[in-house]
Amino acid sequence: MQFHVLTLFPEMIVQGLHTSIIGRAVEQQILSVNAVNIRDYTLDKHGKVDDYTYGGGAGMLMQAQPVYDAYKAVCGERKVRTVYVTPQGTPFTQKLAGELSKESELVFLCGHYEGIDERVLEEVVTDYISIGDYVLTGGELPAMVMIDAIARLVPGVLNNEVSAETESFHNDLLEYPQYSRPEVWMGKQVPEVLLSGNHTKIATWRLEQSKERTRNVRPDLFAKYEAKEKLIKDLSKEKRNYIHMMESLSRGRAELIRRKGSQVLLYDAQIGMAYLKATDEVWALEALECLPKEAVVCYTNQHQMLPLLKRFWEQCEILEKRNACYTQKDNLYVRHKDIRSRNCGDIICYQAYEEETPVAYIEIKKDGIPDLPVLYHRPGAEPNALQQEQYLTSLIAYTVNKQKETGCIPYLQISAQDGCARALLEQMGLYVSGDVVYKVEKI
Ligand code: ADE
Repeated sequence: MQFHVLTLFPEMIVQGLHTSIIGRAVEQQILSVNAVNIRDYTLDKHGKVDDYTYGGGAGMLMQAQPVYDAYKAVCGERKVRTVYVTPQGTPFTQKLAGELSKESELVFLCGHYEGIDERVLEEVVTDYISIGDYVLTGGELPAMVMIDAIARLVPGVLNNEVSAETESFHNDLLEYPQYSRPEVWMGKQVPEVLLSGNHTKIATWRLEQSKERTRNVRPDLFAKYEAKEKLIKDLSKEKRNYIHMMESLSRGRAELIRRKGSQVLLYDAQIGMAYLKATDEVWALEALECLPKEAVVCYTNQHQMLPLLKRFWEQCEILEKRNACYTQKDNLYVRHKDIRSRNCGDIICYQAYEEETPVAYIEIKKDGIPDLPVLYHRPGAEPNALQQEQYLTSLIAYTVNKQKETGCIPYLQISAQDGCARALLEQMGLYVSGDVVYKVEKI
């Protein structure tokens, strides 16, 4: 990932970001940090980059021309997401860090003095972001804060990727307390349960600690957490039909946009995906109007919502799906042993190999839902029906077990009319939803 920082103090950025974890990732070329001195682009012979504000007022303003030329020198004609760090922006959150970490390139524009001429901001900025309700002397520290939070979510930057998943703010809970050696320090004993070796008990203790901390320190976050937990519990009464909504919530992806009794609208901003459970058209329309314009997909189990969604988006395509989830305790048996994983950008791909040749694959797309596995076409070397089934079931079983490892309930979706897939999955021990789940895609 490439970060460009447009600043009057490039040495601050270079010194701040070329040490520790971020510094190591730069050395390993997982990241690059390019600090660009705006002053190098001024046309003023004295190197001036600021001037008085029209209309009067205290302080100086950074002028449009050097900022624009510095931006152009970095981006040329490319459209790169450009963040202006400003107390006037939207609040920076872990969710926003996650979203920005998916970009391959980002520009940060740091202001000084009283700010920057509005006209150049209108020309180049895509996001106005603040790190908190206080005012700093310049944008360099906020830019470094954001870069640090974004960079650590880029694959490979942290050695231990699970830690980015389980820490504070994942699922709206603060992190639980942690302890290292010695077992007793200044008379204080490490909590007994952590020495028990019982992973279920440890996980339960940690969750309770997280909840208690959040309840005390951040009641706002805790209320959000409780609303989601309550919703997951309600949806779990019809688990097979609503597993897609439950999992989107519990995997920390979807946010609760609106709820009234059993009617609910969720939205996953990372992929523009909404989930509508509603029976009342008036309520549903009001709720849909709260969605950002980036929303491009909406799931609903209610057939009567389809005309409304068609009107809402004017042009859309409707796919009929069924959920297939695996809720049993034991792992599924994977008969075919040679399965390898491959990461292609946002997509995870597992491939079954036979004598060093890939024979079938399964993909998990950005939405986290696995597709059904597919056999590679091998003219003259087609596997027989038994082998084919073995590759396909093994890939499904492997994917289910992998998802289970991360603590979520594994599920996938099949076409509502695909009787063969349904029979195969049921034979493997997955439950297939009775409801058709409509996937409405905006065109
Ligand atoms: N520049 C000055 N103060 C700031 C803040 N709180 N967030 C982002 N940029 C800033």
